Amino acid sequence: MEYQRTIVVTGGAGFIGSHLIRLLLKKYADYRIVNYDLLTYAGNLGNLKDVENNSNYTFVKGDICNAEEVEKLFTVYRPDSFIHLAAESHVDRSIEDPLAFIETNIKGTAVLLNACRKHWGNDESKLFYHVSTDEVFGSLGDDGMFTETTAYDPRSPYSASKASSDHLVRAYHHTYGLPIKISNCSNNYGSHQFPEKLIPLMIQNIRHNKPLPVYGKGINVRDWLWVNDHADAIDTIFHKGKVGETYAIGGKNEIRNIDLVRKLCQLVDQKLGRETGSSEELITFVTDRAGHDMRYAIDPQKLEDELGWTPSVTFEEGLSHTIDWYLANSDWLDEVTSGNYQEYYELMYGSR
Ligand code: NAD
Ligand code: TYD
Repeated sequence: MEYQRTIVVTGGAGFIGSHLIRLLLKKYADYRIVNYDLLTYAGNLGNLKDVENNSNYTFVKGDICNAEEVEKLFTVYRPDSFIHLAAESHVDRSIEDPLAFIETNIKGTAVLLNACRKHWGNDESKLFYHVSTDEVFGSLGDDGMFTETTAYDPRSPYSASKASSDHLVRAYHHTYGLPIKISNCSNNYGSHQFPEKLIPLMIQNIRHNKPLPVYGKGINVRDWLWVNDHADAIDTIFHKGKVGETYAIGGKNEIRNIDLVRKLCQLVDQKLGRETGSSEELITFVTDRAGHDMRYAIDPQKLEDELGWTPSVTFEEGLSHTIDWYLANSDWLDEVTSGNYQEYYELMYGSR
């Protein structure tokens, strides 16, 4: 079959990548989607079980840092686009092992950019779409929001590595004319998220009546977006956004961590038929994260005004779907938290 486009999604076996691939396969029957993923602890082909036999979907196991493997991707599939999500993505792990983040997020992005430059030059029918985070902008006080023009001020090894990759992507556009787009999104939540991140970790611990570790006083604020709405925003920007531009993505859902954890306790208790809020007794304030950013908030006005994107669900609806999914798929949660996860948990929380 002649495909209209061949898109390589890097990191497609991860949380956001798997949702994006499912959306692209559903909407674009004439696209070929190649999932290029190393299957680290965060990559799980079980996340794509429902689409793995789709004739226009292919999985290739490979490392974005390996130039030879990336070259082979071009020879075999001749992609016209990359949507680049592969990364080390967890701030706490970046504090333990910064070099892993520098290797994957900076070097890996540079290897991909170099291959795209070699094969595409400045051909405007091609596209390198880089998926990034709002954490590159640093930490907000009580007021204000991040926009596309906010100055970069990354403060964790994770956000510094993502900021560096964003700069490299722009540098390849300005220096070589490589067609690129970048988006910076706020915190995502939804199904299939590895339970090292706040929401699935708390749901898993509530299920098992384990302590709920809230860092510091729990007053840090995050701005949450349902992962399916992020995938939809990426699809919108990929197709309608302007080459060379950046888009900030967020759902205007700011909440303090402690308020979110209490909300999760109430919802999970209700859904499990426990006395509502009884799990709040499990909340345990633990030593704060080093350099913990206080507040993130995204102003998505450019994306809404220029490209007509808006989120499809409220935070309440998204959270309810999310909890329903984890409770209905408790096997998934128990499977991904067996093995190495126990060591990870001991390292991060054992002496906190
Ligand atoms: P994730 O950790 O769930 O998945 C990352 C994926 O990348 C995994 O499948 C992993 O196997 C793969 N990977 C890691 N190293 C690789 C390598 N060297 N070569 C090939 N594949 C490799 O991450 P996520 O939460 O889905 O985030 C995806 C992207 O979106 C990241 O770039 C992240 O910075 C960005 N982002 C995440 C959020 C969020 O809230 N999760 C918000 C904004 C932006
Ligand atoms: P996280 O999901 O790790 O995302 P990020 O650090 O990228 O924002 O954490 C979200 C917030 O929750 C952050 O302020 C740290 C806090 N947090 C806890 O209080 N306890 C936890 O066990 C975790 C994982 C996070």
